[in-house]
Amino acid sequence: MINVPSIDLNNVKDTHELAKKIAQKIRSGMLIYLSGDLGSGKTTFARDLIHELGFDGIVKSPSYSLVEQYTFDTYTVNHFDLYRFRSPEEWHEAGFNEFINRENINLIEWPEKGDPYLPVSDLIINFYYISSDKRKVLITASSPKGVECIKELM
Ligand SMILES: Nc1ncnc2c1ncn2[C@@H]1O[C@H](COP(=O)(O)OP(=O)(O)OP(=O)(O)O)[C@@H](O)[C@H]1O
Ligand SMILES: [Mg+2]
Repeated sequence: MINVPSIDLNNVKDTHELAKKIAQKIRSGMLIYLSGDLGSGKTTFARDLIHELGFDGIVKSPSYSLVEQYTFDTYTVNHFDLYRFRSPEEWHEAGFNEFINRENINLIEWPEKGDPYLPVSDLIINFYYISSDKRKVLITASSPKGVECIKELM
């Protein structure tokens, strides 16, 4: 496991820049957990990342649908939000394991709600609310692909 020193996101532009840097390094099959309190910036980051990967439509928060999918030429991005899970077993009941394979890129908000059933992540991005415009992130890479993704952030 490798931890990136804490990164300050002083405004939404900084959040976009971080998403852009990670999008440039992301590889198919990656699983990224997005953790942090309500309003800490998880969906904002995911939206920027999906746009940076080349999607030019509307990226909705999956907070009601539980998952939103974006199809690209060779992979699909699955953007999950598990906040509304009443129990972690819903991960299996919804068949979400089937969404995770070697090609797709998976972003999961509120991964704690699926614990202990989720597959192991490549990256964990923890968001912290500092003030109305400011956020902070702590990033942990837990696989070689994850490390490759964050190398230049250190
Ligand atoms: N530096 C920043 N980075 C990200 N979002 C910011 C920042 N400054 C202000 N914001 C605002 O904070 C809000 C973050 O909301 P967002 O939906 O991304 O949070 P979330 O972590 O996904 O919450 P939830 O747990 O409810 O899904 C947005 O309205 C965004 O514009
Ligand atoms: Mg959200």
